[in-house]
Amino acid sequence: MANTEAWGSRVGLILAMAGNAVGLGNFLRFPVQAIQNGGGAFIIPYIVCFLLMGLPLLFVEWSSGRFGGSKGHHSTPFIFDSMDKKKFWKYVGVFGIFTNVAVAAYYCYLESWTLSWMWNSISGTFTGQTQAEVATYFGNYVSLEDGAGNFSWMPIFFWLFCLLLNTWILSRGLSGGVEKVAKIGMPLLIIFGAFLAYKAITIQAGSEGATFDGVVGLNFLWSPNFSSIWEPKVWLAAAGQVFFTLSLGMGSIQCYASYIKKKDDIALNAMSAGWMNEFVEIVLGSAILIPIAVGYLGIDQVVEMTKSGGLGLGFMTMPYLFEQWGPVMAVVAGLFWFGLLFFAGITSSLAMGTPVMGFLQDEHGWKRRPAAWAFGGIVFLLGLPTVLFFNQGVFDEYDYWAGTVSLVVFAFLEIISFAWVFGMDKGWREITDGADIKVPLIFKFIIKWVTPIMLGLLFIASLIMPESGDWGASFSAIFSGEGWSFSADSIIGKIMNKGINADIANALTPEDLAKLTEKKFYINISRLGLLLLWSGIAYLVYHAYKKRIKEGRFTS
Ligand code: PHE
Repeated sequence: MANTEAWGSRVGLILAMAGNAVGLGNFLRFPVQAIQNGGGAFIIPYIVCFLLMGLPLLFVEWSSGRFGGSKGHHSTPFIFDSMDKKKFWKYVGVFGIFTNVAVAAYYCYLESWTLSWMWNSISGTFTGQTQAEVATYFGNYVSLEDGAGNFSWMPIFFWLFCLLLNTWILSRGLSGGVEKVAKIGMPLLIIFGAFLAYKAITIQAGSEGATFDGVVGLNFLWSPNFSSIWEPKVWLAAAGQVFFTLSLGMGSIQCYASYIKKKDDIALNAMSAGWMNEFVEIVLGSAILIPIAVGYLGIDQVVEMTKSGGLGLGFMTMPYLFEQWGPVMAVVAGLFWFGLLFFAGITSSLAMGTPVMGFLQDEHGWKRRPAAWAFGGIVFLLGLPTVLFFNQGVFDEYDYWAGTVSLVVFAFLEIISFAWVFGMDKGWREITDGADIKVPLIFKFIIKWVTPIMLGLLFIASLIMPESGDWGASFSAIFSGEGWSFSADSIIGKIMNKGINADIANALTPEDLAKLTEKKFYINISRLGLLLLWSGIAYLVYHAYKKRIKEGRFTS
């Protein structure tokens, strides 16, 4: 049976696409990345990456999606297959299913925290707690402990609830489920965000317990600082953030776009959704967490917390800070902040479900409901280790391989396939066909040359980043025969387990040693699991291809 999903309306499509992009990445990841990379020093690379990689890739992904969809394909393996004769491309497309499933595996857990923290805000869990107590509460939560040393089911309960909710909405289809949630969630998110941003920016030192003005945090982020413009590390982080936040290099945009009718516009739609994401990221994303946290805790402490806190920062600080606004506002702000995060999260995790469902529906004639349950089931199995072994680093490991490396690899292969194999003349026609705006011709050049070169450099740089961070000195060291020392943060360094091996070598106590050795074990197992997942999907693609040949459904 053919896959007959479709979008209900143009507004619905744009909101769903914006919902896909606007996610926890905008509110939790962006501020932390910006702080870790020097505030104002981060913004310039970020904007350049957005213009030279983000926008061009949006055009590429939307148009390949609509192209594949017009031929009846709704997931990247066969969308890519329809664009060139070589059999190899469908295996590149495996990334477009893999990434979604693997990211969903940790993302849904993160999403479930927002539900839990909404509940905590209502039930007054944080009333009267100090900042340290709120942070400890978070630490216990992810350790699955109740604070008195007993096992706590609460994180698991909220996680399962969140998974079921996603599965149920997905089983209602695109126009009946995903689109409806986006139509409700996106406007609410903007309202909640605008309210919190207003509160944040107007924080005044000395009132409501604040130590600094809200604008102190904003200035830290937005005073351009050219010092680190030559640091590849900052560029890597900026590009990584642009990909993650726009959902690029994942396969979910292509999937959403494959349900657009052949003659419908994609150029203006892509720009609308893309710019809406940037508005939410740059304006709302930077105007809430940082100004509030800095207003109460100061820049130094916030910088310190992002070193280890990462995505947890918004959960470890905000409830305490809201308490300073009085009991009623604490509940309101808590509901707004965690509600905003929840809507941001769910409209993104739904997007992660659709490529798998599209694949099962297209290739195996599955109905929507079993396909949705299949997604829920895989995310449950794959996500369980991130819940049970959060402290052993499984969550971060998934985020690194699926949420960072895989995006760059996929985006690079995809732009080569589009601009050089499919061909830029055909590609340009796909982008401009039915377009409601005139796409500037310069993008044809950018897509063909600038984006692929930048992506290639980015990938090589992440692969072999030198330990010292000093590229010039590292190259001269090679010529003087000293060899190349990979940074623990480079892809090769990660594969070699450089970071954790160094920690193990430096462990001070036998307990630390045992803990780190255990962590290394879980890290290696997670990688193996991800590799198996990739191979399993590749096998299914192979199987589907054979099936198509047998049934005489030719792929291109
Ligand atoms: N773009 C989303 C965010 O910013 C994440 C995402 C990843 C969405 C993969 C869809 C697919 O949080």
